[in-house]
Amino acid sequence: MVEILTEKCIGCGQCLKECFPNCLSIVDGKACANDMCIDCGHCYAVCPTNAINLPEQSEEGVIEFNNSKPTIDSELMLNFIKSRRSIRNYKDKKIPIQTMEHILQAGRFTPTGGNIQDVHYIFIQDNLETLKKMVWDGLNTILADPERVNSIQERYRIILQNLWEAYSNGTGEDRLFFNSPALLIVNSNSALNGGLASSNIELMANSEGLGVLYSGFIQMALSINPAACEYLNITPDQIKSCMLIGYPNVSYRRTVPRKPTNIQWM
Ligand SMILES: Cc1cc2nc3c(=O)[nH]c(=O)nc-3n(C[C@H](O)[C@H](O)[C@H](O)COP(=O)(O)O)c2cc1C
Repeated sequence: MVEILTEKCIGCGQCLKECFPNCLSIVDGKACANDMCIDCGHCYAVCPTNAINLPEQSEEGVIEFNNSKPTIDSELMLNFIKSRRSIRNYKDKKIPIQTMEHILQAGRFTPTGGNIQDVHYIFIQDNLETLKKMVWDGLNTILADPERVNSIQERYRIILQNLWEAYSNGTGEDRLFFNSPALLIVNSNSALNGGLASSNIELMANSEGLGVLYSGFIQMALSINPAACEYLNITPDQIKSCMLIGYPNVSYRRTVPRKPTNIQWM
């Protein structure tokens, strides 16, 4: 919950206007907060005298704007989003931990409903081979269960059966993990919180020269395998995305066409 540094507060009331849960008031010329606070930090961001503390949050990475808020050219932004591709071919190169820490800051600063900040990451690089085995076990469980197999759309069922055949025969390339050096698992109670963080992380990874592939197949196979969830110390419903990540070993010549935006103006 927010703390007001009364010696700095000038009672200007700007924080009150920003406060979404309406937990601030002015008493004796100073701001004061009640326990409805969600720690969103809007009061912190707007305060002209820096009179706000958020003791449950970390100030690491906070930027002072000093009249120049960072901006990005909108065409550059859109072109960057358009240039993102799912990467299915990676260089044999490890990701430095510092690079990954930097990329995950994009998740940390992504919004969450009620500012709950319930997104948790598992980065697997050193133990990827151990996890791969568990994913393949999960896939085998799915394919051995007619009820589960039949619930999968035909085109994906055929892909999965071919993937398993190539793996179990030791033939062909691994088109489940491709040759990515690492896997990032994004966990949350909320699909939207986890998805939003994943998307920002993907763009941030691109800005670091890395590429990502969301793998629904890996997510499905992991979620089905209790041994994998125990190993990762998560429950299956927490997994919101599984992202293969590494340095792309492919360069694209252009962006791709898409269906027109489906929008209803009202
Ligand atoms: C939620 C989600 C799950 C996906 N699962 C897989 C997968 O299991 N295997 C795969 O090769 N691609 C997977 N993809 C990648 C999509 O096929 C890809 O995003 C789509 O074909 C468009 O290509 P692009 O990402 O390069 O624009 C997934 C993408 C998303 C968003």
